[in-house]
Amino acid sequence: MDNHGQSRRALSVQAHLPDRKQRKMAYFKWDESCSVRVPEFDQHHQHMFSLGNQLADAMTSGQGEPAVSNILDELVAYTQFHFAAEERFMREEGFLALTQHEAEHLELTRRVFDFQERHRRGQAKLSIELILFLREWLTEHILVTDKKYGLNRLTIPPIT
Ligand SMILES: [Fe+2]
Ligand SMILES: [Fe+2]
Repeated sequence: MDNHGQSRRALSVQAHLPDRKQRKMAYFKWDESCSVRVPEFDQHHQHMFSLGNQLADAMTSGQGEPAVSNILDELVAYTQFHFAAEERFMREEGFLALTQHEAEHLELTRRVFDFQERHRRGQAKLSIELILFLREWLTEHILVTDKKYGLNRLTIPPIT
């Protein structure tokens, strides 16, 4: 085969092999529709989406257990920091549904600790389950529950 033929064949093979950038799927995409109208927490959520993507990428691209563990540990630690910050904010704002929101945080924390513990015990085949959990958490909790404290700010203050 001449050089021209070889390069043509190489090109057609490459066309079927997505490069690394294309293989990196964004499982969790933050856009304005995810905004909770509190810039500090939008930033937190964006960081959590990024950690969720890193975690999904580590699990699906065979980066190995240490990489998955490190990102999972970081996500757990960041989540605790974020939940505490949100709860402090809601308390300061006198948000009425605080107890219900705290209960959701507690349940999400319990479940994420459970994933971390199972991962530590070597039950590594959690990939799909964990990605689905993160999707539920990062979308449903933020889009439904977190948005309420942002909306709470928009209510008209009483006339004094
Ligand atoms: Fe949040
Ligand atoms: Fe929250």
